Amino acid sequence: MINEIWQVAYLVAAVTIVLSIKWLSSPASARNGVRAGQIGMLFAIIGTLLRHEVVSFEWIAAGLVIGSGIGVPLAYLMPMTSVPQLTALSHAFGAFAAALVGTAEYYHRAPTGFPMVALVVETLLGYLTATASVMAFGKLQEIIPTRPLTYKGQNFVNVSLLAAAIGLAVWEVQGGAPWWAFPAFSGLSLLFGVLLILPIGGGDMPTVIALLNSYAGMAAAAMGFALNNRLLIIAGALNASSGFILSVIMCKAMNRSFTNVLFGAFGQVQESGPAKTSDKPFRSASPEDAASILLNARKVVIVPGYGMAVAQAQHKIRELTDMLTKRGVDVQFAIHPVAGRMPGHMNVLLAEADIPYDRLHEMEDINPEFIETDVALVIGANDVVNPAARHDTASPIYGMPILDVDKAQTVMVIKRSMNPGFAGIDNELYYDDRTLMLFGDAKQFVADIVKELPTAA
Ligand code: TAP
Repeated sequence: MINEIWQVAYLVAAVTIVLSIKWLSSPASARNGVRAGQIGMLFAIIGTLLRHEVVSFEWIAAGLVIGSGIGVPLAYLMPMTSVPQLTALSHAFGAFAAALVGTAEYYHRAPTGFPMVALVVETLLGYLTATASVMAFGKLQEIIPTRPLTYKGQNFVNVSLLAAAIGLAVWEVQGGAPWWAFPAFSGLSLLFGVLLILPIGGGDMPTVIALLNSYAGMAAAAMGFALNNRLLIIAGALNASSGFILSVIMCKAMNRSFTNVLFGAFGQVQESGPAKTSDKPFRSASPEDAASILLNARKVVIVPGYGMAVAQAQHKIRELTDMLTKRGVDVQFAIHPVAGRMPGHMNVLLAEADIPYDRLHEMEDINPEFIETDVALVIGANDVVNPAARHDTASPIYGMPILDVDKAQTVMVIKRSMNPGFAGIDNELYYDDRTLMLFGDAKQFVADIVKELPTAA
C-alpha cells in the first residue's frame, strides 16, 4: 500500500512540476506556476519520506530545521534587486547536495557500469556548479572583485584541469582506480568551478547563472539515473532544459554568443572612472512640463529599466498610469527582454504594483507602435533604448535588439544624470531634438509629475 502511495505522490509531483514550468512562462499565470511548483515539491518530499529506504528520520528532521533556518530568512531579507544573487546561492546549495549524494553513494555502494557513469557525471557537475555558483554570488554581491580576472594561458589551464577531472572519472568507471582518485576528482571539480567564473565580468553573471541552473539540473537528472529515481530524472531534465533555453534567450536579447559570455569581458567594471559622455547639447524639463506634455498626449508608452528597480518606482508609476488613464490617455508598457538585471525583472516589479498584464507588451509587438506614439516615457532604462545598437558597428551593443523609442513624437527620459548604463556607453538618444531629459530619482520624479497632474493645463 505504502509503495503505491509514494508512486502516486511522485506522479502528482512530476505533473505539477511540468505545469509549473508551463505556467511560469507567462506573467498572467506565473503566480499559479509558483504555487504548482511548491505543491510539486511537497508531494516529492512526501513521496520520498514514504519510501522504505529512509534510514533515519532524525537526520532528515535536523536537515529540515537547518535548511529552513537558512532559506526562510534569506528569502525575506534579500531585496528584490538581489534576486540574481539569491538564485546563485540556491543553485550552489542544490548542486552541492547532488554532489554530496554522489559522494555518499560512491563510498556506500560503489556502483559499477551505467550507474557509476551517472554518479561521476552527477558529482562532477554538482561540485563545479556549487563553487561556480558561490563565485557568481560573490561577484554579484561584490564580495569579490566583479571585474574579469584574466591571465595568459587561462583557457589552457581550465581545459587541462577539466580534462584531468574527466580522466579520473573514466578511471573510476573502468574500475581499479586507487583510493586517492575519487578525492582528487572531487577536488579538481570544485577548483574548476572557481576558475570557470574568474574570467567572467559581474555584468554577465545573470546569463552565467541561467547556465549554472542548467548544470545543476543535469546533476540532478544524473543523480536520478544513479539512484534509479524517475522523479529526479524528470525534474532535473526540466530544470536543465529550461535553464539552457533561458540562457539562449538572454544571449540572443543581448546579441552575444555563449563563447562570448564565457570568455569575453563584456560588462567589465569601468576602472578608469565613468565612461565619457558627449559634450553635445541636450534639453531638460521639469515635472510640471512633463505633466503637461503627458496630459496632452493621446498615447503614452512607458519603458521601464534597471533604474525603476533601483528607485522602486513601480507603485508611483501605477498611480501615474491610473491618473492618465482616467484623463483619457492610452498608457501602455514596453518590456525589453533584458531590461533590468535578471529575466522578467520588469514584469515582476510591475505585477507587484498591480499594473494589468494586458498593458505589458513585448519588444517585437510594441516596436511597430512607437511611430504612432505621442510620448515614450523612459524610466531608468538606458542601453535597451540606445539607437547605437542599430547602426554603430563599433558599439559594444551593436546588433542588440532595442526598443525603438526614438520613433515616438516626444521622448522623455527619467534618470539622475547623463551617466551611462550597464554597457558603460553614451546614449545618443539623450541628444536627440525630440528628447527631454527629466533629471532625478525615478520614484521622486514620477511622484512630482503625479502632484502636478491635476493642475497641469
Ligand atoms: P541600464 O542600461 O543599466 O541603465 C539603467 C539606468 O538607470 C542608468 O543609466 C541610470 O542612470 C538609471 N538609474 C539608476 N538608478 C536610478 C534611479 N534611482 N532613478 C532613476 N534612474 C536611475 O539598464 P537597462 O536599460 O534596463 O538595460 C539593462 C542592461 O543590463 C543591458 O545592457 C543588458 O544587456 C544588461 N543585462 C541585463 C540582464 C537581464 S537578464 N536583464 C542580464 C545581464 C545584463 P543614472 O545613473 O544617471 O541615474
